[in-house]
Amino acid sequence: MLTMEKAQDYKELSQMAAEKIITKLSHKPEAVLGLATGSTPVGLYEALVAAYKEKRFSLAKATTFNLDEYVGIHPSDENSYAYYMNQHLFSQVDLPETAAHLPNGETANLEAACTKYEQQIASAGGIDLQVIGIGLNGHIGFNEPYTPFEQRTHVVELDKTTREANARFFPNLEAVPTHAITMGIQNIMESKEVLLLVAGEQKAAVLERLVYGDVTEAFPASILKEHPNVTIIADQGALSGL
Ligand code: GLP
Repeated sequence: MLTMEKAQDYKELSQMAAEKIITKLSHKPEAVLGLATGSTPVGLYEALVAAYKEKRFSLAKATTFNLDEYVGIHPSDENSYAYYMNQHLFSQVDLPETAAHLPNGETANLEAACTKYEQQIASAGGIDLQVIGIGLNGHIGFNEPYTPFEQRTHVVELDKTTREANARFFPNLEAVPTHAITMGIQNIMESKEVLLLVAGEQKAAVLERLVYGDVTEAFPASILKEHPNVTIIADQGALSGL
């Protein structure tokens, strides 16, 4: 079921999302959080860091698992999602280093990295709250259109459109990795709660399709309609198509 919470603007969306995480941690300090990258959650992490400085929460007992990571980019590379997470959140809060997990895209054996990630999520007891964004083609994590809904953590070849959308972070399109490791749709569906953030007019059509469209593998996010606990926080721009 999708519950929609409306924000005036990106700042409010980010604050609302941060409050959800703070509330979760206040009820369950040892919560397992699923985290996302991309430009949408940047404001959420900023709001969390500000709240952390005000001592409103602690991540000392929490565990995190990121949705995805590029293949072939070292964690110290500024385009890796590991680097992004360190920059925006991990280096600024009290999450123990060993409690932060991202898939390992810098290994010769990517299949083993996927299996290990699955084991780590399972031994942490599964994900309590998963934050996600949505791609322009409806992808969640890096689960591109026509990814089977049953898929678990796996290696994906990125859509040309996804590489183009993410090229803004790289020197040029050729520098954007062709592959990534992503949690599968099944992992997202198994998380107890999902928080989907949708910001900006460029996401209006995607949000419209999510709300009014059918559940189909052609539009991966559509499966969220079958999840029992999804909250969408969207700003005015994203809501403009509804
Ligand atoms: C990337 C990420 C997704 C993210 C999506 C949208 O491809 N792998 O997890 O949701 O892009 O990103 P943005 O928030 O920058 O629009």
